[in-house]
Amino acid sequence: MSAAADAGGRRPPPGESPRHTLSMRLRALRNRLLASPRFQRWAAAFPLTRPVARRHTRELFDLVAGFVYSQVLAACVRLDLFERLAAEGPASAAELAAGCEVPAERLEVLLRAAAALRLLERVSGEAWDLGPLGAALRGNPGVVAMIRHHALLYEDLRDPVALLRSPGPTALGAFWGYAASPLPASLAGQAVGDYSTLMAVSQQLVAEEIIAAYPLGRHRRLLDVGGGHGAFTRAVAARVPGLALAMFDLPAVAAQARESLAQAGLGERIEVHGGDFFRDPLPQGADLISLVRIVHDHDDEPARQLLRAVHQALPAGGRLLLAEPMAETRRAEPAGDAYFGLYLMAMGSGRPRSRAVLEAMLAEAGFSRVRERRTHTPLLTRLLVAER
Ligand SMILES: C[S@@+](CC[C@H](N)C(=O)[O-])C[C@H]1O[C@@H](n2cnc3c(N)ncnc32)[C@H](O)[C@@H]1O
Repeated sequence: MSAAADAGGRRPPPGESPRHTLSMRLRALRNRLLASPRFQRWAAAFPLTRPVARRHTRELFDLVAGFVYSQVLAACVRLDLFERLAAEGPASAAELAAGCEVPAERLEVLLRAAAALRLLERVSGEAWDLGPLGAALRGNPGVVAMIRHHALLYEDLRDPVALLRSPGPTALGAFWGYAASPLPASLAGQAVGDYSTLMAVSQQLVAEEIIAAYPLGRHRRLLDVGGGHGAFTRAVAARVPGLALAMFDLPAVAAQARESLAQAGLGERIEVHGGDFFRDPLPQGADLISLVRIVHDHDDEPARQLLRAVHQALPAGGRLLLAEPMAETRRAEPAGDAYFGLYLMAMGSGRPRSRAVLEAMLAEAGFSRVRERRTHTPLLTRLLVAER
């Protein structure tokens, strides 16, 4: 044992003296106890520790089985079970199996699994109906689209250690064409259409969160940078009548946005600009610029460059809205740190950042008075407001 290691052979954290801090010793004791089968047996049997022991067992089991849960959900979505039950009412396994090309007795296994996960519910005898989580999913087409899209993520996560070791080409990198492209402005329509559609479907809830959290009506003109097919500006157009609106995205995305906005009768209301925000100057004239789910897509240096470009495009006193899910979000750590951490790594660009990290980057880009506006669902998006 080296002089720097403790009695259990563990080293103190970097930067600390070999003399252990009290918290390190307590943590080491806790971890030794939790790892001991004898202690586990005792804690599961003793009435006062039993609830905690059961919770730990359940949490650990959920981590072990999480992939299976996701696949149960994916199968229900692919077999359209939630929509069918909502449209046709409760049905038996045999009725649901018709049209699924799955034998009824095998479908029954899926139905039981989905009921255990509160996606479905068994009602009166042999009939199945939507459970609370299956019902909630129906109100969230963006989540359903993400569930279908996750097939690509799982392909990339098949060997998580290989992904950690090497950034090689990935299915998600190919899907998000700009992530791996040195010249994203040259991407063609078919390379940007699928991700833009996915983003547009999942934008609805995010837009509601931002509109509820920040009084957009106090501004004159909003420019949404990385605005995709215009879903955010459309939502704002419907809710904030006097605000002039513009968006900026890659030329191929901008062309698709122009078309869909014109079809929705918003061609006049929302001005669309095409370009590369790393190479082209951003349009001037907005006193409010939004970056919605943009910064986390980019590595630190390009993200800093983008924030500087936004700073330059704003007048003195102009504001930036930075909205995205963030790392270290209390009670949403599995979303910000686990899910987005690995998702963005598989995509090959960007990382989820904490509020503190974003604040420091904003200050570095020249912004001042960075504040957070509370959103209803921080797991989905948090919102920072910064002033030029
Ligand atoms: C994750 S999507 C977010 C879209 C939209 N803001 C939303 O929340 O639904 C990122 C957007 O940034 C755009 N983008 C990525 N790199 C870009 C670049 N270099 N210049 C302009 N737009 C870019 C993409 O085309 C895409 O529309």
